[in-house]
Amino acid sequence: MELGYDVVISNSRGPETLAGLVAELGPKARAATAAEAAAAGDFAVVTVPLKNYKDIPVEPLAGKIVIDTNNYYWERDGRIPELDNGEATTSGLLQEHLPESKVAKGFNHIMASQITTDGTPTGTENRRALATASDYPEAAELVTSLYDEFGFDSVNIGLLEDSWRVERDRPAYVVRQNAQELKDNLAKATRTI
Ligand SMILES: NC(=O)c1ccc[n+]([C@@H]2O[C@H](COP(=O)([O-])OP(=O)(O)OC[C@H]3O[C@@H](n4cnc5c(N)ncnc54)[C@H](OP(=O)(O)O)[C@@H]3O)[C@@H](O)[C@H]2O)c1
Repeated sequence: MELGYDVVISNSRGPETLAGLVAELGPKARAATAAEAAAAGDFAVVTVPLKNYKDIPVEPLAGKIVIDTNNYYWERDGRIPELDNGEATTSGLLQEHLPESKVAKGFNHIMASQITTDGTPTGTENRRALATASDYPEAAELVTSLYDEFGFDSVNIGLLEDSWRVERDRPAYVVRQNAQELKDNLAKATRTI
């Protein structure tokens, strides 16, 4: 909101349960159902426990860029064999669920609270960097531009099939790193943990 975006937020329980958060966020925020929020946005951010990704509305997100923050916590999400055996990625699963959308991985390897506290202006020495990946260049470009607005450099991993490099328990996951350190950590990652 501080960056000027109008935001429509949703959850699983219904918009009325978000009244307190909307009041806290101010006049540029409102609450809606997930389907309404998906329809309202120029782009969408999906941040739900991964086990619920198939609840994300498909049709209202067709043609839109969808930023996927999700991570796989098998303790919470249950075992997902395609992830356990290295045949899929978390963002790839969301892309399969949203075939007409343009999914980009973003903001998954930074604590939520740090998104608004760790940013620094473009060109700052040792600026923190975050990774993205997408099968659609325009989706990766949107994440890169948002990262810069929030105060972060960006490293583009490439396609979603390579986005496992920034998933949970890899060297780049939730550590503070500049762009070169992030590139090095992405290169060090192994497919199976
Ligand atoms: N927390 C972080 O710092 C952080 C950072 C980076 C990435 N992530 C990733 O982001 C995802 C969400 O994490 P979180 O910590 O934000 O989890 P959380 O605190 O459990 O919040 C999840 C939100 O998703 C909503 N939700 C759950 N199921 C839904 C559904 N079927 N339809 C619509 N909304 C639904 C919940 O609404 P209700 O409360 O109404 O159920 C809640 O608002 C995870 O994959 C996590 O790994 C988290």
